[in-house]
Amino acid sequence: MKKLVVTKLSQNFREAVTLQQDSPVPLPGDGDLLVRNRFVGINASDINYSAGRYDASVKPPFDIGFEGVGEVVALGLSASADFTVGQAVAYVKAGSFAEYTVVPARQAVPLPSVKPEFLTLMVSGATAYLSLKELGDLSEGKKVLVTAAAGGTGQFAVQLAKKAKCHVIGTCSSDEKGGFLKSIGCDRTINYKTENVESVLRKDYPEGVDVVYESVGGQMFDLALNALAIKGRLIVIGFIAGYQNPTGLQPIKADLLPAKLLKKSASVRGFFLNHYLSDYKMALQHLLKMYERGDLVCEVDFGDMSPEGKFAGLESVFRAVDYMYMGKNIGKIVVELPHSVNSKL
Ligand SMILES: NC(=O)c1ccc[n+]([C@@H]2O[C@H](COP(=O)([O-])OP(=O)(O)OC[C@H]3O[C@@H](n4cnc5c(N)ncnc54)[C@H](OP(=O)(O)O)[C@@H]3O)[C@@H](O)[C@H]2O)c1
Repeated sequence: MKKLVVTKLSQNFREAVTLQQDSPVPLPGDGDLLVRNRFVGINASDINYSAGRYDASVKPPFDIGFEGVGEVVALGLSASADFTVGQAVAYVKAGSFAEYTVVPARQAVPLPSVKPEFLTLMVSGATAYLSLKELGDLSEGKKVLVTAAAGGTGQFAVQLAKKAKCHVIGTCSSDEKGGFLKSIGCDRTINYKTENVESVLRKDYPEGVDVVYESVGGQMFDLALNALAIKGRLIVIGFIAGYQNPTGLQPIKADLLPAKLLKKSASVRGFFLNHYLSDYKMALQHLLKMYERGDLVCEVDFGDMSPEGKFAGLESVFRAVDYMYMGKNIGKIVVELPHSVNSKL
């Protein structure tokens, strides 16, 4: 089978990752499923992973890709208590950028069908749901600022804050993204390429914003912090603006942080999905039900509008990562892995 492997640690995905053409298909153990991946998700942190920032003790070569949707093609005896061959499943586990991935049955989520929309919920949707539930303290009328709002996880933060009857402000880099944000209920969109975010917030929200879902970092972090209302809270979801740097970081005005927080009784809290796994299945069931009821838009971007067209096949993961870092995507970037004709499985 084909799979992507990190062969050299680097935040430059193309330098770090190699497409292997003839890897053996892995064998499932007693409690495992062998999943034929049909859709895999691109995440901003794929380049943090390829740079070895997740676990400094892991040395190349290692597998990459955080999440997949596909069908079970083989399974161990214990796993067969809950799953069968042909069943559609989704999972979050390192090594999804491959034609086949072994997934422990307890980490697999059964699905009604193999659809890319389900993939959007696995990391991106669950991150928005759990962080806002645990740290957002949302209630009617609160003002919520979402940065990178039209992206994979931002789209869910916008919709979930709207469901909680909040007033939602979203930043993005184009009018097309602004149009999408309006369509999912965002009250005020700010195109940061054509509008000054700081002045807009100062003018339109003089009392400040109550909650920030912040995933850009650097200057965006600083101005969002300055825009907090009394008792406001900023949730650090990520800092994508720094991921392509060798340090993975973008400078912020950290020396002023204690004074700024004290003056407003404000807070800054980090959120990392891996620390909330005990609530993960509940979150996912909740999001899946919302989607099936038609209460949640799960926007998928297959890159149809990218220069070389739709992201299909493992080869196109490289283009898909570039597309994200050019800031082009609307919704979650997904790569389709069409079945190879000569597959024996
Ligand atoms: N904490 C967690 O557990 C967790 C889980 C999932 C994701 N995240 C974080 O959530 C954020 C979004 O991740 P995602 O996978 O959903 O990506 P995404 O939002 O689908 O795509 C990234 C978007 O960020 C903006 N962007 C890209 N490069 C940028 C740069 N250099 N400077 C500023 N903005 C840039 C672009 O939108 P615009 O420029 O139009 O805004 C781009 O479309 C990342 O910070 C990621 O690490 C955290």
